[in-house]
Amino acid sequence: MPDGMEVDYDGLIPNNVGLAQDARVRKALETWHPGYIDWWLDMGPEGFQQALVYLRTAVSVDPKGWAKFGFVRMPEYKWGVLLAPVIEGRRIGFGAHKGEPVWQEVPGEYRAMLRRLLVIQGDTEPASVEQQRHLGATAPSLYDMRNLFQVNVEEGRHLWAMVYLLQKYFGTQGREEAEDLLRRRSGDADTPRMLGAFNEATPDWLSFFMFTFFTDRDGKMQLEALAQSGFDPLSRTCRFMLTEEAHHMFVGETGVGRIIERTVEAMRTAGIDDPNETERVRALGVIDLPTIQRKLNLHFSLTLDLFGNEISTNAANAFNAGLKGRYREDKLEDDHQLTASTYPVLRLKDGTVINEDVPALSALNMRLRDDYVADCLGGVGRWNKTIEKAGYAFRLELPAVTFNRKIGEFAGFESDPAQLPGSDDRAFIESLMKPVTVPGQYASWIAPPRAGIDGKPGEFEYVRIHD
Ligand SMILES: [Fe+2]
Ligand SMILES: [Fe+2]
Repeated sequence: MPDGMEVDYDGLIPNNVGLAQDARVRKALETWHPGYIDWWLDMGPEGFQQALVYLRTAVSVDPKGWAKFGFVRMPEYKWGVLLAPVIEGRRIGFGAHKGEPVWQEVPGEYRAMLRRLLVIQGDTEPASVEQQRHLGATAPSLYDMRNLFQVNVEEGRHLWAMVYLLQKYFGTQGREEAEDLLRRRSGDADTPRMLGAFNEATPDWLSFFMFTFFTDRDGKMQLEALAQSGFDPLSRTCRFMLTEEAHHMFVGETGVGRIIERTVEAMRTAGIDDPNETERVRALGVIDLPTIQRKLNLHFSLTLDLFGNEISTNAANAFNAGLKGRYREDKLEDDHQLTASTYPVLRLKDGTVINEDVPALSALNMRLRDDYVADCLGGVGRWNKTIEKAGYAFRLELPAVTFNRKIGEFAGFESDPAQLPGSDDRAFIESLMKPVTVPGQYASWIAPPRAGIDGKPGEFEYVRIHD
């Protein structure tokens, strides 16, 4: 399997990393597997472990046809270890080692740093499954329920991806980290997940769609930066994860988009001209636009905290070491070392927000966050098109990056007039969260999708709950 395209699909763990010939790592993963299944049964989708779900499973790493669809009980999902194909002659693209051949083994001097990057990325994957585990019970349709479970099993696979790297390259320490990844729990007072946003609740479907739009997009940015890594197995791992991640953001963007579509349609039909007439809009059984804006404010600001401090030596070190690049580093035109350049960073000086040029190396978190914000704007613009087309002047917007922050320059800073969801908003949304499990039917507050999954027709039964 020299080019890494061939997937061994027969064993317990489908893979294209030659596990059949690698007894040590195979044994390590097989030993970890029962604990993973216990975790999945304990913390995965509650109430639907026996349902048959129409899921895609990665069976190849060929971009033209990497997945197959079929009905699966989630605990029997084939979680595999899949790396994107080797790029012959690949060289390190940035930092102090720029131009050297990529590493196939972990450079000793960067061991601790690399392990930390893998563990932080790995910790987010099971966390989101834990956060979303109660949502199956209130799904607005079988189509949406299936998408939720698809995201969940793929986050499970992303955990496998990181655990493989830990087990393969980090010996005993890697094994311990792999076990700890199953031990921490989102929101747990004693053993929480590592990052704040992954300890927040995802109590309803608007939260879920906002989470997949905003927080999975942070995941995309982090994976893009790690896909540039000079440690080639990490680069290949992340490149393949990104093919799955695209669907998670599709779920988020179209989910919020369908909610908006339904809201403006119901408002039009009822002759409501002012989107701020909250009570009248809510009486129609749809979610008013100002509430959607407040939810957006919450999820955007929570996610910005995931980018860490604007000025960061850790980020500079990881870049210098060639472990974590910038967003699409290989498409950027500069020296890729950044020892002499600067980058403008928003800072808080004497209570005012200023833009300050700082050494570019220290500003890499800020830069990734800027790229993230630009990426978010595309989706928000598409949501606004729907509102505009319905003839309303209301526009959703991203709040200032200084709003509601707990990490970095603006932690605790109160600057922005934006609002967070209140208990009244939460109670209203919760009142809408009634399951719809008739094939082809949708809850009152969300429009049907434009197309089915895998070309399936509207009344397709994506989840056979009682099978
Ligand atoms: Fe993921
Ligand atoms: Fe994701």
